[in-house]
Amino acid sequence: MTSSTKTRLRSPRSRRHTRAVHIVGTGSYLPDRVLTNADLEKMVDTTDEWITSRSGIKERRIAPDWMCTSDMGTEAARKAMDQAGVRKEEIDLIICATLTPDMPFPATACLIQKKLGAKRAAAFDIEAACSGFLYAMEIGQQFITSGTYDTVLVVGAEKLSTIVDWQDRSTCVLFGDGAGAAVLRSRGDEHGILTTCMGADGTQSDILLMPGGGARYPATKESVSAGMHYLKMSGKEVFKNAITAMQTAAEEALRRCNLTIDDIKCVIPHQANIRILEMLADRIGAPMEKVYVNLHRYGNISAASVAIALDEAAREGRFQRGDLVLLVVFGSGLTWAACVIQW
Ligand code: ACO
Repeated sequence: MTSSTKTRLRSPRSRRHTRAVHIVGTGSYLPDRVLTNADLEKMVDTTDEWITSRSGIKERRIAPDWMCTSDMGTEAARKAMDQAGVRKEEIDLIICATLTPDMPFPATACLIQKKLGAKRAAAFDIEAACSGFLYAMEIGQQFITSGTYDTVLVVGAEKLSTIVDWQDRSTCVLFGDGAGAAVLRSRGDEHGILTTCMGADGTQSDILLMPGGGARYPATKESVSAGMHYLKMSGKEVFKNAITAMQTAAEEALRRCNLTIDDIKCVIPHQANIRILEMLADRIGAPMEKVYVNLHRYGNISAASVAIALDEAAREGRFQRGDLVLLVVFGSGLTWAACVIQW
């Protein structure tokens, strides 16, 4: 970070004289099985050329039948805890962001708590679709800032292969399975999560949804045969809203910290579509070299996407301690969020 950035940097958090919250460890887990665009050509009427040119995705990971969201979340959490040097007994709270929980209840976070043996931890899920991981980080951060808890484990985990209609070429080529996690703690210095802006627009809830399986349309033979337990998406509408929402959130987060995009070392966006990322980068003035992209390998993994990207970018050394990182996400709801972190 340059000295001019240091002079200008303003943390909304430090103005409140509260303790800084850091990401002290990250981890991710991807199932072994790779489903390539060539494999999809044999399943639906599509081509590698169409998928690559419209989305940038080349392959995605698919979890085996026996492996649930909580299994992937637990593996990612173990790696984050290892890196942080945090023992299971030290975790105060587990928050899991997912739209594909193992089951409607109990919460997947409770199943992760059991698998980790983190007996002291409170645990709950949140559902903000692809924005869920940043929503969960902000909730975890608030618990630490307030002094209620010291150590929060945040997990983003999805098994989207279970809600994708494998006969619908307009959606099945886009999604995959996986999990990412982060351990939040105060490290005692002034770095950390500087601000998080969150937003939602429920008037657009019908452009990306899974209608069946809740109280509105409980599971019945009819709901199953009508395909109501599959993800439905108006791709073009989501596309347009995604760019505007992410641009607005990113610019607001930078403004709150008195920063410009030039101060940011790495932009880590939700990994949905390379065309969305290129348009977003153009609108916020970020060269694509600053934007971390792994969607060609994994597709869109909803709440897990940004968590996995953060873990991979950190492990690849895309930023160092003290560097400024911008995370930005959007998803069903509609929901969106942006977060500035001084690593
Ligand atoms: N292979 C070949 N052709 C296809 C495929 C496919 N897999 N899918 C659709 N097509 C066809 C369509 O039928 C259509 O044909 P037609 O013109 O004869 O009717 C044509 O391709 C164009 O389809 P569009 O939907 O207009 O294609 P578009 O350029 O909009 O790209 C896409 C579609 C990739 C889905 C894009 O709209 C998109 O990425 N939207 C955003 C999705 C997203 O980011 N979701 C994230 C949120 S996910 C969450 O929160 C869980």
